[in-house]
Amino acid sequence: MSVDGSYKILLGISGGIAAYKTPELVRRLTERGATVQVVMTRAAGAFVTPLSLQAVSGRPVRTALLEPEAEAGMDHIALARWADLILLAPATAHLMARLAHGFADDLLTTLVLASAAPVTLAPAMNRQMWRHPATAANLRLLEARGCRVLGPAEGAQACGETGPGRMLEPAEIAAALLDGTPQGGPPPGDATGLLADVPVLLTAGPTREAIDPVRYVGNRSSGKMGYALAAALARAGARVSLVSGPASLPCPPGVECVGVESAAEMHAAVMARVGDCAIFVAAAAVADYRPAAPLPGKLKKAADRLTLELVRNPDILAEVAALPAGPFTVGFAAETEALAAHAEAKLRGKGLDMIAANLVGRGVGFEADDNALLVLWPGGRCSLPTLPKPALAAALTELIAERYAASVTG
Ligand code: PMT
Repeated sequence: MSVDGSYKILLGISGGIAAYKTPELVRRLTERGATVQVVMTRAAGAFVTPLSLQAVSGRPVRTALLEPEAEAGMDHIALARWADLILLAPATAHLMARLAHGFADDLLTTLVLASAAPVTLAPAMNRQMWRHPATAANLRLLEARGCRVLGPAEGAQACGETGPGRMLEPAEIAAALLDGTPQGGPPPGDATGLLADVPVLLTAGPTREAIDPVRYVGNRSSGKMGYALAAALARAGARVSLVSGPASLPCPPGVECVGVESAAEMHAAVMARVGDCAIFVAAAAVADYRPAAPLPGKLKKAADRLTLELVRNPDILAEVAALPAGPFTVGFAAETEALAAHAEAKLRGKGLDMIAANLVGRGVGFEADDNALLVLWPGGRCSLPTLPKPALAAALTELIAERYAASVTG
């Protein structure tokens, strides 16, 4: 966050014809209150000039790694840490391939590797290139690592062909990134100082409760919310341990990840570590019940009806909150109705310091890229609007940092 509370966006421009639209994109982002730092690849300079982008962004454009003059101001590592969000627009097939394979052969790819900020791509390329299996595989890799992808749109292309591959319009990209956010970003505040070196333990993802060796009772949690929160807490300086149920997401940079499968395993992993943490956050969708007697062999199909007996799992969050001299404890509440009432009941019932409540259902809360939260604590509340989960996680991190700081200073 800038000193004036605006959202800091590092805009990476690669060499495609859609680069000519980026001065307009900078305008759309800055009019929503964002501060934009442009970084261009060498090829981007064939389509748009650094001077135009400097004029609209009001900041010198960065183009090369280890430029003595630029490095003397803000070096590339400081620039990587400066960004709240990295937007790559247009993202060419070549840039996507370099990012997918971890190249750091110019300033832009180095910054992406050196930054823990969430990355959004707005791809733009010829339709055949977009459909090529190599691009599709690179896209899957990038998405699996948590990159958000906006577009591309379908339509007439600069090469004269028609199909998918057009970069989304600047106004659409800016709206998808920033609309609904106060001042172009999450609420101002600097979590970094407040959480420096604070040990945080977090749960995320679903749990799987075995019925037999091949089947389980599970839920729709993807882990996106919890992993984004782990990344945001680590970016804010916390020492984060993440106990996660099965999720196909990479461990966020700087986070210690512990993989578990069932609620019982998550309970054991949390209880073994909770003594060392100052803040505990429960973002996991833990199964409340498990099959009473999982079968040693595969259940055979026989009768028309089958009854599965379930027994209660331990409530990890409630147990942590009840510890004498336990950590500052943040729960989540996943509700399909009466969000505030159910969240308040959980806040009080489990004796929590804070609760982040979200509406859930098919495609809402669970699995989705965006989410909204109602955050409650004893004597206060804050609504965080619909945002991409990484941006929402950054906003929640600031609230956690503020409330935690208030709790330790009394
Ligand atoms: O993973 P995503 O696809 O990104 O989706 C995110 C999410 C919807 C899973 C997440 O935002 C969320 O709401 N997580 C909590 C889900 C949940 O189980 O809520 P609950 O209201 O049933 O549980 C209340 C709290 O108790 C939660 O903090 C939960 O982690 C905790 N709990 C519940 C049961 C249990 N046995 N042990 C627990 O610790």
